[in-house]
Order: sequence, then structure tokens, then C-alpha cells
Amino acid sequence: MIPLGDNGTVEQAVVNVNGVISDSASAVVSVFDHGFLYGEGIYETVRTYNHRPFLLDRHLHRLRASADMLGLTIPPTDEALANAITATTDRVTFQTERYIRLLVTRGVGDLSYDPTSCATPTIVIIVKPHRENDAAVTTDGIRIMLSSVIRNHPDAINPRIKSNNLLNSALAMQEAMRAGASEALMRNHRGELSECAQSNFFLVRHGIAHTPPLDAGLLEGITRNFVFEIAKVAGIPVSETVLRAEDLHSADEMFLTSTTREILPVTRLDDHVVGTGAAGPITRALASAFHKQARTLSGL
Ligand code: PDD
Repeated sequence: MIPLGDNGTVEQAVVNVNGVISDSASAVVSVFDHGFLYGEGIYETVRTYNHRPFLLDRHLHRLRASADMLGLTIPPTDEALANAITATTDRVTFQTERYIRLLVTRGVGDLSYDPTSCATPTIVIIVKPHRENDAAVTTDGIRIMLSSVIRNHPDAINPRIKSNNLLNSALAMQEAMRAGASEALMRNHRGELSECAQSNFFLVRHGIAHTPPLDAGLLEGITRNFVFEIAKVAGIPVSETVLRAEDLHSADEMFLTSTTREILPVTRLDDHVVGTGAAGPITRALASAFHKQARTLSGL
């Protein structure tokens, strides 16, 4: 089983807590931070190509959209946040591409839900080596599980919020890992497919790539949107389609998308082999278009 999450070591991490940059062992946040006490916070995971944060403007835009849904204001400008990221990445000693996690929490306050007790948000930037997909996985694909854990109801915790409160995903991933799967495909409260615990989901049928619509209750992935753009250029039709578990059996290909995993083929769903059991032609065409465009935009 290959766990999908970025499970690389954090020992080489450099961490910025409210402007104080330190190594991973020295970085601290107060136990009275409402991020810790109540899970009140939001985050973004960004990666670099050519050591440049990829699509950072889109990530910062989504960070603020998530913060808005929590009634949280992020005082620094996007430029200041980008500069803080640069100041942190400048301190790393490794040469590989960087994994960057930017977190903003409500901040330190009283043992109370009252947000006014938190004077200022806590801003944390973690930079560590990015782990590229194993070459075998990009051709052979991964196995995922159709989870029994459903996605949070949008009227409870809206999955569009990229929240630090990841219990819903953690429970689905624990179930998947127990079953020897690398990712958990989740349904919504209506029984429609929504997304995976850590990525967005696509299936290909008769040459068309289908992915659940935002109304299915999912994170509007930056990579998902980027796939829409590159698919248009590559002449591959993509459709936002309401999908159900029954649709999984007639799929020719499946893949998932995320910042850290890019476009990753799914070749096993529970005990079923998907398509030919290897990355299919549409998945490969999109992955190749993705890499080309990511490299071009990163000055490579
Ligand atoms: N995860 N859906 C969920 C629930 C996610 O956690 C993620 C990303 C995505 C894909 O979004 P994007 O393409 O913007 O990365 C979809 C990141 C990588 C993480 O949690 O670290």
C-alpha cells in the first residue's frame, strides 16, 4: 500500500510562526490558539516547480475565500504573504522542490468560542522537501477505496472551506489505509460521489473526463481547475457530472488530482480493476499536458 499523503519526513522542515523562522523542532504555537482548541483555521498546500511556488496567486485567493467562510480576516496582503513564504524557503538547506503549507488560525484567545477574544490570527508556514510521485505509480496507478465515511454535509462544515479541521478526511483515510488503499473516495449525503479524502476525483467514459460538480460538496481544487484549462487546449472534453457508485463500474479510466500528486491514475477500486489496469490514454495525455504547462509557467 502506498499512502497518498505527503508523508515525507518533517525533520528538514523550516517553519515560520508569525514571522519567527526556526527549525522544525523549535517551532511552537500556543495551546490557547483557537486553531488547536477548536480547529478554527484554514490552510493551503503549495508546491514549487523550479523552486517557484506554483499558482500561488490562486492558492492565496482560495485561502482568503476559506477565511471568509470562517469570518476570519487575514491582515497581511498577498504580497506580504508571498514575501513571508520566500523568507522561509530561503532558509532551507535541501535542494529538492519544496512542499509549502500555509496555515492561518483564529489565534490565541480565551477558552471561549468568542472570536473577539483572539486579537490576531496565527500565521504558520511550513516548508519541507516535496516528495515527487514514484515513477511506477504514474504508470501503474494506485488503488483507492470507496469509503463508508461520507463527506461533511455542506450545511455542517462546507467542504469548500480548506479547513485545518481534517477529522472527516482523517477518518476516511484511516479506513482506506486499513483496507490497504492509498486514497478514500467519498460520497455526499445524497449518495453521489464527491471527492477523495485528499484530492479531487475524475473518471473517464467514452473519451470524456467526468468530475463531480461543486454542488456535490467538495473542495474546488486548484489542480481540478487547471485540468479544465489544459484539457481545453488538449481537446479533451471535461464535464462536471453528477456521478454515483454505479458509474464506477463503467469507467474506462479514473484519476485524481491534487497539488502534491498532480494527475495520478487510479487503476484499482476496492477489488475491481479499472480499465486495463494501467494508466489510460486520456489520463496520460492530461498528465503530460499538465507537466508541460507547469514547466512552462515555472520558467523551465
Ligand atoms: N489536498 N480535495 C481535498 C479534500 C484536498 O485536501 C485537496 C488537496 C484537493 C485538491 O486540491 P488542490 O488541487 O488545490 O491541491 C481536493 C492538499 C494537497 C493537502 O491537503 O495537502
